[in-house]
Amino acid sequence: MTPVNQTPDLKATRLTQSRYQRASSCYDRAESPLEWLAFHRWRRLLWSQVRGEGGHILELGVGTGKNFPHYPAGRPVAALDLTPGMLARAQARRAEDGVAVELLLMDAQALAFPDATFDAVIATFVFCSIPDPVLGLREAGRVLKAGGQVLLLEHMRSDGPLGWAMDRLNAATVRVGGENINRRTVENVRRAGLAVRREEHLWGDIFRLIEAAKEEGP
Ligand SMILES: C[S@@+](CC[C@H](N)C(=O)[O-])C[C@H]1O[C@@H](n2cnc3c(N)ncnc32)[C@H](O)[C@@H]1O
Repeated sequence: MTPVNQTPDLKATRLTQSRYQRASSCYDRAESPLEWLAFHRWRRLLWSQVRGEGGHILELGVGTGKNFPHYPAGRPVAALDLTPGMLARAQARRAEDGVAVELLLMDAQALAFPDATFDAVIATFVFCSIPDPVLGLREAGRVLKAGGQVLLLEHMRSDGPLGWAMDRLNAATVRVGGENINRRTVENVRRAGLAVRREEHLWGDIFRLIEAAKEEGP
């Protein structure tokens, strides 16, 4: 098995950032049909599964802030993104919607938070584009408190025959939009040392909701 990296690949990270910087002005428009068809509903489903009351939430790769309407009332939320252009749109949306969220420019592969800071770590459609998903997921686990939740809404490589085509098309989708369509995200969650508690298939086995937690000690 490939060893897990300890630090982000700066060249790959800058490339991802520049792709999303370019996409930031048209991101919402380009995604709106999918948002209308299914994403909005799946976002609501994910956020309805955040447990507990009052605990601190971290959203990774907040993008333009599409999850703001679903944030649980009264919960402190910090949300970060690698790309200034995406974050600027999230800042504008925060002002329009009057959402209380702390927005931060930060790399999910190297989080500037102490261990065990958050009760829930959430990401939607992010681990397809983070350059090193295992490193990002390991960071998510590091900042998660024991007993906390990692909740992910992600598209990933199909385990069926479509997976073959996804492998062949991946280089093109990365070039065009920065998104890998053949990541094995459930496997990546496990490689990052997290325990997969639940997997819900939302559209075939491509779009999935994953709940994970810190592995319990011996
Ligand atoms: C496909 S967009 C999804 C945005 C948002 N989560 C949503 O549901 O609409 C992926 C986002 O991940 C961000 N991203 C990519 N790599 C990142 C990293 N290493 N750290 C933080 N954010 C990252 C991109 O800048 C982009 O905003």
